[in-house]
Amino acid sequence: MIREQNVKYYEIWSQDLTKIYEKRKAAFEAVSQINLRVKPGIHGFIGPNGAGKTTTINMLVGALSITAGEARLRGEKAGSIAACRLIGYLPQDPILYKRKTAEQYLIYMGRLGGLKKKEAKRKAQELLQYFDLLNERHKKLGKFSGGMKQKVALAAAIIHEPKILILDEPTTNLDPVGRSAIIAKIKELSKTMSVFVSSHILSEVEQICDTITILNRGRIILSDSLVKIKNEFLGNVYILHTNKNLKILEELKNKDFILKAWIDDRTNKIHILSKDSEKLQELNKKIILDHEVKIFSFTQPELSLQEIFMRFINEAI
Ligand SMILES: Nc1ncnc2c1ncn2[C@@H]1O[C@H](COP(=O)(O)OP(=O)(O)OP(=O)(O)O)[C@@H](O)[C@H]1O
Ligand SMILES: [Mg+2]
Repeated sequence: MIREQNVKYYEIWSQDLTKIYEKRKAAFEAVSQINLRVKPGIHGFIGPNGAGKTTTINMLVGALSITAGEARLRGEKAGSIAACRLIGYLPQDPILYKRKTAEQYLIYMGRLGGLKKKEAKRKAQELLQYFDLLNERHKKLGKFSGGMKQKVALAAAIIHEPKILILDEPTTNLDPVGRSAIIAKIKELSKTMSVFVSSHILSEVEQICDTITILNRGRIILSDSLVKIKNEFLGNVYILHTNKNLKILEELKNKDFILKAWIDDRTNKIHILSKDSEKLQELNKKIILDHEVKIFSFTQPELSLQEIFMRFINEAI
């Protein structure tokens, strides 16, 4: 195996990382040979339910054994003490001690993270203030709302000042106000630490992430900077609307520079994924002459991450 020399320069790095869950009769491969190359910044980890996001994250934080391949955090082996010191982790369903108050819990988590008692107390106060929970600090966590619990869980994940913050769906189950509060905090935190965040809420991912990885059925289907992905897609996608869409669609499908063409259910217009815009323009002119077709519009759309995601996932199914 060729080893990358600069593994330690990646916040998160994996090579052929694989997880097979052994069931009684059959083995199930939930994550298949994934190669992560995560640089500083905010990295979004997206994919449909069951794609393998939580399984991957659990291997990265050392909560789950790795079946094959390897994973490193700033060069430290996932699961090692050195790697654990580097990371802060917010699980998908954080379990908080119901009987502890917010303040007691944060001090406890600070101590677990290796802080001295005095330091843990100081940091707990600082974080309670940062997350606007000072008035609630003596309240038992069992009486907290979902949004407040999520704030405490996030505070607990960063109390030991990690270098890499790993968040598994941090905004699920929160109302829009709670979600924006958490998103704003994540963005702020990313100034001092790298963030690796899994999410289903693509508008949020789009808002905060520099780079993304799309996972489907345990495999990476795309991993790049968001700007690059959007540019690539915008550069290639066109929408054409004519008075003879079905006929034109057939014509388009036979061309080698057209990667894909389809009629969108919602708009009834032809969507075209083309390798060559000039050839497409030429073809448009020909089509008009050949079939006396009227072109109503020929435009390039604004694509959201949601649309890019749906296209990739649909293609992969
Ligand atoms: N402990 C386990 N034993 C067996 N199979 C499991 C186990 N945990 C997860 N799986 C399976 O592995 C696959 C990936 O699950 P995982 O929880 O990693 O997905 P996910 O991408 O986090 O999904 P979601 O978006 O719903 O949180 C699923 O098919 C799931 O059923
Ligand atoms: Mg999950």
